[in-house]
Amino acid sequence: MSDPVNKKNTAMAASDTWGRPLKALRISVTDRCNLRCQYCMPEENYVWLPRETLLTFEEIVTLTRVFSDLGVDKVRITGGEPLLRKDLSTLIRMLRQNNRISDVALTTNGVLLNEQAQALFDAGLHRVTVSLDTMKPERFKALTKRDSVEQVLEGIQSVGRAGFKGLKIDTVAIHGYNDDELVDLIEYGKHVSAEVRFIEYMDVGGATDWSADKVFSRAAILQTLKQRYGAIEPIEEESSAPAQRFLLSDGTTFGIIASTTTPFCATCDRSRLTADGMWYLCLYAKTGIDLRQPLRSSTSDQDLQSRIRSGWESRQDRGAEERKELERVNSRGRFIEIDRLRQDPHLEMHARGG
Ligand code: GTP
Ligand code: 5AD
Ligand code: SF4
Repeated sequence: MSDPVNKKNTAMAASDTWGRPLKALRISVTDRCNLRCQYCMPEENYVWLPRETLLTFEEIVTLTRVFSDLGVDKVRITGGEPLLRKDLSTLIRMLRQNNRISDVALTTNGVLLNEQAQALFDAGLHRVTVSLDTMKPERFKALTKRDSVEQVLEGIQSVGRAGFKGLKIDTVAIHGYNDDELVDLIEYGKHVSAEVRFIEYMDVGGATDWSADKVFSRAAILQTLKQRYGAIEPIEEESSAPAQRFLLSDGTTFGIIASTTTPFCATCDRSRLTADGMWYLCLYAKTGIDLRQPLRSSTSDQDLQSRIRSGWESRQDRGAEERKELERVNSRGRFIEIDRLRQDPHLEMHARGG
């Protein structure tokens, strides 16, 4: 079954029904999390994926090798909270053996980062993104149901010390919750050499508290920042990345991920692997493709490759655009009901990687 990891890539890169290439793979390594952010995991208790179904590191590496045969060159490790997965740096080291993957990044809530940053850097992780929605301890506790803001701030500071460049801070901007902290977050980003990205609140699975009036839109974010910084220049760049980047007059850059008001499905080259080996072709997809079952029945790389290729070549997903379309008929509300989420935890954002 196993080809040498770095054998020359002979397979043709896969492209979907809209001509979008298969490029970025988000790999969730656990569905568990040590915070309970209200926009993602508003409940205290969840139905977790059974442990025996979780892919081993070897299985993740095998699948990544097959994905890289089809054009994937960028992976992002997500969760749940990925730093809860034991020995994560070992997985990073294993993934770095594949030289067709040129970028291995991590999205974390930062709580456990201080203790792991150096090991992750030494294992070859390229980039870190930390989620931080507020720096106010009381607010942090209200949003996440945990008292860990100090640990997160320490985690953020440990990133540069460990040797990483290109730190990003992701902030979900929520109207009436943290829209008064955007300037403070930009200033904090300058202090820790991080680029801050503001994300519009999305009506994804798991976001059962979502409502349109809580979305703090890109226009509102720009308006707020203009009041403090004056003119803001958009940075023109060709990219499939979700963030649009901007420049302040003092040279500071920041990003906005406006997936709710301005979906970027047209250029989306991303797919998601859950910790138990389900492959989702869109953040909003209700069904996925099971890769664990063929993987565990000693299927060859060729067979896995043809399943993945045919999945991607049939891909029509434009989930965020479809959600936005609903606004025209005034029916944009909660995406998935709680009962349905309980029946299929894969529908949760925390299972398919934020
Ligand atoms: P880089 O460009 O490599 O830094 O990665 P990224 O921008 O994908 O980084 P990150 O994982 O931090 O994504 C930031 C946020 O953008 C996520 O947490 C989601 O809120 C949102 N996002 C990421 N991918 C998608 C996507 O495919 N669709 C939509 N609608 N939103 C996404
Ligand atoms: N809206 C926007 N972003 C979300 N995330 C999770 N849920 C949502 C949501 N409803 C993203 C955030 C967070 C990451 C882990 O997942 O970017 O930082
Ligand atoms: Fe891609 Fe789906 Fe997100 Fe659109 S909603 S950008 S298709 S993952």
